[in-house]
Amino acid sequence: MRRYRQRIVQELFTETCIDAGDLIVPLFVDEGIDRPLPIVSMPGQVRNPVGDLPGVAARIAGLDLKSVILFGIPVAKDPAASSAFAPDGVIQRSVMAMKEAVPDLVVCTDVCACEYTDHGHCGIIGKKHGGKDLLNDPSLELMNRIAVSHAEAGADIVAPSCMLDGMVASIRAALDARGFEDVLIMSYSSKFASGFYGPFREAADSGFSFGDRSTYQLNPSNAREAILESTLDAGEGADILMVKPAGYYLDVLASLRDLGLPLAAFQVSGEYAMIKAAAGHGWIDERAAVMESLTCIKRAGADLIVTYFAEEAARWMHEEQ
Ligand code: PBG
Ligand code: ZN
Repeated sequence: MRRYRQRIVQELFTETCIDAGDLIVPLFVDEGIDRPLPIVSMPGQVRNPVGDLPGVAARIAGLDLKSVILFGIPVAKDPAASSAFAPDGVIQRSVMAMKEAVPDLVVCTDVCACEYTDHGHCGIIGKKHGGKDLLNDPSLELMNRIAVSHAEAGADIVAPSCMLDGMVASIRAALDARGFEDVLIMSYSSKFASGFYGPFREAADSGFSFGDRSTYQLNPSNAREAILESTLDAGEGADILMVKPAGYYLDVLASLRDLGLPLAAFQVSGEYAMIKAAAGHGWIDERAAVMESLTCIKRAGADLIVTYFAEEAARWMHEEQ
């Protein structure tokens, strides 16, 4: 076997390569700031003011990155998440700014309500089984409105992340009814109730005021249920399926290859923060750990990787050329 691993032939036998075109850059946009605000739990990441987005779009395109996904932090929250579908909401303005600055940058939007509700849950809350819980069908109406408003602003891909039953079919029908047949749906189809979203909730101010997300997101123990979830979303018309988090769910990712749809994996805030923290202490080599994590996610089956390391990785790839 060591004949394959002689330095001179190593590259010939490399099975998996990461390309800037595989990566999707997550960006936080805060309606209430006018200069970038560092995110303490995610060293190197910031909340961007809307006004900075043309510059950010140009910087990203300059690194040969093709795509971003936007998360909004609104100034006002309410139980109905009304700022999530406002025509002049933070994401709607952000999409317009990015598309105007770099028209061929692929702009994805996260379609969820947790950043916009005062209770911090992903949709409409009501009484269920004697307690409070996320209501499925009333929340679908809300997701339709959010997705359509993102499409109206010019989003290329909408990415519902609320884990509601029927969300893909519902959003597909709403988009088609408004003439947005060409807008793709990237479904967060197998999204787990993960402890690794902690830093994101600080970054996006989307923590919940009661309960948890385990009545709508998947139990980390359940791979077969995760495959069923993604299979259902494929049947409802999803264009891209997603597994989230990425690194601990490579078995799920590998199984989903059989469905034949393009697959995305989301390397989440906690996965980012762990590498950053260890590297910050000098305990691991950051570049090696980042490139290994991304290569292994792709090796397991991801076509696309949403990662906070996208810009850093793209810069390293540039240096190598
Ligand atoms: C919103 C959403 C979350 C993430 C992406 N979209 C948080 C959550 O479900 O609590 C997490 C992303 C990350 O941790 O990087 N539903
Ligand atoms: Zn949510």
